[in-house]
Amino acid sequence: MQTPFKIAIAGLGTVGQGVVEIIQKNAVLIEQRTGRKVEICAVSSFSASKKRAVEISQYKWVDNAAQLADLADVDCVVELIGGENGIAHELVSHALDKGKHVVTANKAMVARHGLKLAQNAEFKNVALKYEAAVAGGIPAIKTLMQGLAANNIKSVFGILNGTCNYILSEMGLSGRGFDDVLKEAQDKGYAEADPTFDVDGIDSAHKLCILSALAFGVKPDLDNVLEATSGIRGVSALDFKIAEELGYKIKLLGSAHQNDAGEIAQMVAPCLVHKSAQLASVDGSFNAVFFDGDFVDQVVNVGRGAGAGPTASAVVADIMDIMRGDESAVFGVKTRDLQGAKWIDASQNDDRFYIHLSVDDKPGVMANISSALSTHGLSIDELIQRHYHVDGPVSVVMTTHKTARGSLDLVLEKLKSLESVISIDSVFRIIKF
Ligand SMILES: NC(=O)c1ccc[n+]([C@@H]2O[C@H](COP(=O)([O-])OP(=O)(O)OC[C@H]3O[C@@H](n4cnc5c(N)ncnc54)[C@H](OP(=O)(O)O)[C@@H]3O)[C@@H](O)[C@H]2O)c1
Repeated sequence: MQTPFKIAIAGLGTVGQGVVEIIQKNAVLIEQRTGRKVEICAVSSFSASKKRAVEISQYKWVDNAAQLADLADVDCVVELIGGENGIAHELVSHALDKGKHVVTANKAMVARHGLKLAQNAEFKNVALKYEAAVAGGIPAIKTLMQGLAANNIKSVFGILNGTCNYILSEMGLSGRGFDDVLKEAQDKGYAEADPTFDVDGIDSAHKLCILSALAFGVKPDLDNVLEATSGIRGVSALDFKIAEELGYKIKLLGSAHQNDAGEIAQMVAPCLVHKSAQLASVDGSFNAVFFDGDFVDQVVNVGRGAGAGPTASAVVADIMDIMRGDESAVFGVKTRDLQGAKWIDASQNDDRFYIHLSVDDKPGVMANISSALSTHGLSIDELIQRHYHVDGPVSVVMTTHKTARGSLDLVLEKLKSLESVISIDSVFRIIKF
């Protein structure tokens, strides 16, 4: 009979306790499905005295998480502390150096240090798995690495952050503003006290960078996503009202696609999605990931992108893969075969756009705006003009036909310079699926 597979868990917060709970409750099922028992042999967290929702007194306690990697009988270190650097990175690097398998949910660390860590794992011939790092309980990584492995992937996109999707869904339903809904999300535990990573799109950028690497066989390059990342702080209640009038919902989307020349574009931004699109119906804290493969066509995964149960479910599935002897490369191909990405020139990246301006209520304004647009050949699909504020500025909203981002930027510069344009309130891409 095989000896139990021994794991050490670092971090006993939301996800860590979820992992302990699944392993305690589903031990028999895990053994039947892998042919081996799993055993938690040690745990570490910041505070030894904190009360936990699961019983951990039977496990060896280690004060310094990095030392879990030194325990001789540990087969796999499970890192659930979080953070790009610091103790999480130290532990994972040390565990790989020591020849231990590693499972982590840490997207920030994988996005930033994934390549180096993958090289270390390859060198030591051990697994580094991170399914929970992208879209929590949704098997997005396994979908790319296993189910769609025979396809060239043309694009991968979706709703990658449940907090933002919850906030935007609530804003759309209730008509309330961003600050008000964010506060409610924090009170309900759907948003962190410091929501920066979520609402500024950084968390989605981490996930997109990982998906891009897997989809296109390129080195994970977080900086190239961050350059094209914007969050949801600037989305107003008025934008929702106007979008509704035009037949759209507003979603924070992460999107990466590759053109026929093999160049890649990546972005994270609030986008208008037509109400009839499948993505528009994914509301609340749910995530959705869409994959386009050259033979399979489109595949969609929808589910809970965060929370103790869904995230721990993905972590334990990774542990089970290792128990079954899964030897897949960390990013789907050996690190020596990962290419440096060629990027599509952002100014040539075309889409339809939604432009929302506040303008003075006086004659001749529309003529000036039209002239600014036509100078750069930008053609308007729909235009609406509304007096939403009594005695205040007029809102002018235009949706454009497909236009290159570079041309749009020139038009926006021109609009800014017009005396009658008080502000450019929002510019969103209109995404068609
Ligand atoms: N929560 C989710 O829904 C979710 C979804 C997907 C991915 N993730 C990822 O999963 C990871 C964990 O997230 P989480 O939500 O579980 O975070 P969390 O609830 O804040 O838990 C973090 C844990 O790390 C421990 N910790 C902090 N500093 C430490 C140190 N120096 N040494 C040892 N332990 C330390 C904390 O200890 P104490 O409890 O003792 O204070 C806490 O138990 C992160 O990488 C996150 O991005 C989370």
